[in-house]
Amino acid sequence: MDAQTFLKKLDSIPELPTLPTIVLKVNKMLQDYDTSIKNLSKIIERDQAMVTKILRLVNSTFYGFRSRITNIPHAVIVLGFNTIRNALVSVSIIKTFSGEKSFEGFEITGFWKHSIAVAVTSRYLAGQTRLDSPDDCFIAGLLHDIGKLVLSQYFTESFGLVWKSVKEVGLSFYEAEKKLLPVNHAQIGGHLAKKWQFPVSLIDSITYHHAIRKGVSNLNQLLIVHTANTIVNNYKGDLEMRPDFSMIDSEARKVLSGQLETVLEWFPDVAGEIEAACEFFLKEE
Ligand SMILES: [Fe+2]
Ligand SMILES: [Fe+2]
Repeated sequence: MDAQTFLKKLDSIPELPTLPTIVLKVNKMLQDYDTSIKNLSKIIERDQAMVTKILRLVNSTFYGFRSRITNIPHAVIVLGFNTIRNALVSVSIIKTFSGEKSFEGFEITGFWKHSIAVAVTSRYLAGQTRLDSPDDCFIAGLLHDIGKLVLSQYFTESFGLVWKSVKEVGLSFYEAEKKLLPVNHAQIGGHLAKKWQFPVSLIDSITYHHAIRKGVSNLNQLLIVHTANTIVNNYKGDLEMRPDFSMIDSEARKVLSGQLETVLEWFPDVAGEIEAACEFFLKEE
């Protein structure tokens, strides 16, 4: 099967997750400059579960506001359109993609923990360097590996082959895919993001997170996600990591050199934030 056939097959899967209509609506509204706080709030307020989730999120330590935010219009004013949109997208996507069947040794919860870790680290890197919007980088980090979920749930045979090779030969997921499949999880994720009509920068950051392409629409965002992913993979649960940044793209190493040099100093704090974010996003209702 070649790449084209593979992606066509992906398009024809009837039960492929669609984004909840609320996300599509909000996305559309935010592309329109005339959208008012009132209109945006109205859309969100139609979904009571979403209201609860958003209010819990904005009042969590994750955003660190001192005064309590009790309604959506207030949340929109305090956090801004973009942050609200991204909170909405994060909550919806994790919900859409959880509780599905998992593979031996590949669990959805573990997957989301990794993704949230990369999201929080990306947000941190963006905030420190001011290279891109921290919120946009959060989403890009959260979704960078979404193609792996698609593979594990809709292309079980292919996923099984790759996973076996990861476990038995010790190849990285990406290396194993390169050897065994016509497309990799980054391309698959990018394809899905396009189908979901996400911004081009987000599609690019997902598609090229393992193979940097200089000509993308937002190179800084791509470099941030790529670097955050490598840092998180280096860290793997112990604070005494010995950072190995040989896998990081040279352009990323240049642009983020300050953060890479001091990673051992700041990462423990970010690790705490990651834990708080996991607690929030992955907690059952
Ligand atoms: Fe990846
Ligand atoms: Fe990753």
